[in-house]
Amino acid sequence: MSRLSVLVVPDSRLKRHAEPVARVDDGVRRLMDGMLEAMHEAKGIGLAAPQVGVLKRVIVADVSRPDEEPRDYRMANPEILWRSEDEVSGEEGCLSLPEQYGDVTRPARIKVRYLDHQNEIREMEADGLLARCIQHEADHLEGVLFVDYLSLLKRNIILRKLAKAKKQTAAV
Ligand code: NI
Repeated sequence: MSRLSVLVVPDSRLKRHAEPVARVDDGVRRLMDGMLEAMHEAKGIGLAAPQVGVLKRVIVADVSRPDEEPRDYRMANPEILWRSEDEVSGEEGCLSLPEQYGDVTRPARIKVRYLDHQNEIREMEADGLLARCIQHEADHLEGVLFVDYLSLLKRNIILRKLAKAKKQTAAV
């Protein structure tokens, strides 16, 4: 697969609902691998297929710190089965909103069910950064971005900045 490039806001594909995959076959595995490559290349910790222009319910993540063993997650059709009542606030960014950050409050722990790269059903509990990352990536599958949790004022400041940056890039 040729190198995937990550879409940047504004792009209508980032606002769409993504479709489930029927099964994890070679095509989906190639997509997952390509997404992980693009994510690592961009020094991101998670990526959803709509961010590379593919409207399928596929996400990847690796939240390991530089001093830890890398741990790549490949998930198709992720479904958050349970969310803790306790919530935590944390700063988020997104490869589709480069250099923009904002605090988002989310459930601290989740349970997620997904198909792994071998098309096996898995269930996993996650907390900390992994829980935040999976929720952020699952949102992408519904066309939801982290800025949608911010105040209208903050969101508009970020979106205007990105629209302007995109126009300037296009003009070069
Ligand atoms: Ni994102």
